[in-house]
Amino acid sequence: MLLLAAAFIVAIVLLLYMVSPLISPKPLKLPGAHVVVTGGSSGIGKCIAIECYKQGAFITLIARDENKLLQTKKEIEKYSVNDKQVVLCISVDVSKDYEQVENVLKQAQEKLGPVDLLVNCAGTSVTGKFEDIEVNSFERLMAVNYLGSVYPSRAVISTMKERRMGRIVFVSSQAGQLGLFGYTAYSPTKFALRGLAEALQMEVKPYNIYVTVAYPPDTDTPGFAEESKTKPLETKLISETSSVCQAEQVARVIVKDAIQGNFNSSVGSDGYMLSILTSGMSPVTSITEGLQQVVCMGIFRIVGLFYLGSFDSIVRRCMMQREKSENTDKTE
Ligand SMILES: NC(=O)c1ccc[n+]([C@@H]2O[C@H](COP(=O)([O-])OP(=O)(O)OC[C@H]3O[C@@H](n4cnc5c(N)ncnc54)[C@H](OP(=O)(O)O)[C@@H]3O)[C@@H](O)[C@H]2O)c1
Repeated sequence: MLLLAAAFIVAIVLLLYMVSPLISPKPLKLPGAHVVVTGGSSGIGKCIAIECYKQGAFITLIARDENKLLQTKKEIEKYSVNDKQVVLCISVDVSKDYEQVENVLKQAQEKLGPVDLLVNCAGTSVTGKFEDIEVNSFERLMAVNYLGSVYPSRAVISTMKERRMGRIVFVSSQAGQLGLFGYTAYSPTKFALRGLAEALQMEVKPYNIYVTVAYPPDTDTPGFAEESKTKPLETKLISETSSVCQAEQVARVIVKDAIQGNFNSSVGSDGYMLSILTSGMSPVTSITEGLQQVVCMGIFRIVGLFYLGSFDSIVRRCMMQREKSENTDKTE
């Protein structure tokens, strides 16, 4: 009887594996495709642009600083695989004026054709204790990280729907999967991207458009170096519990997942665990992925609780040390 049940389960799993490719999206062909990368002049965005260019794509880079854009264009062009490839630079703030963003993307599409892959990577961060963060920083981060992803996506979606093809990537963060000390202004902007992505994916899936949400871990970039200058001690100590990734590695994973049309994109074993833990009602792009979530969720929750316990103890230790040194100062 037990043997029969085991054979039945194995047969179901095998069947699911066999039909899995039938429900998975067809991979995007990058050679000749038009890829737009916001935040493409630095860090993860720059490495995503390089990765796509190496695979034969035409690139539009979007950022504000023109000099940085031109410098990056030169850097990317070293990786050309054919002499037809173009790197177009557009200087615009993606968070300010929707019509301006729509116009520049229209111009880019006139030059390089309709957008096949849009990577929303422009973003910024502010860390600090909730009460210490300037009120306007909450508004600015929501504008850049959230609206700065809404505007370019809104500007290209109609053409993608007409063509019944396209890929949109939202670069969130592991801080968009769990809230950590010091990230009260940043985390909500990255959580918001997940909500946008889930709702949008349900709308556009019948049009053969696939949305990816990437959750990079701490990554060695100019933006990360800048953020690290003002991180509270608690945030630093919690960050140090995992290692810092290279932007090239993160970019490779994001590009691979965008090509495959995977909804979740994570890096490393921590990233894998967090994606399973926070999968909730998010879409799956293969039965294998769904099975992994069903099987691993419980055990990962136990591991997650240990992590949460150790983060809480870091925060408590820092508070006690601070209070102790304040008391010593007072008595001196
Ligand atoms: N590095 C990490 O540890 C890490 C971890 C998780 C998630 N992320 C996310 O990954 C993305 C890239 O991060 P990064 O560390 O690579 O950042 P980065 O090195 O600071 O690069 C940010 C890019 O975004 C552009 N940008 C910023 N604000 C913009 C705006 N309003 N309009 C247009 N472009 C704008 C910047 O160019 P200009 O300044 O010239 O406009 C630059 O090209 C961000 O969304 C970040 O939140 C990063």
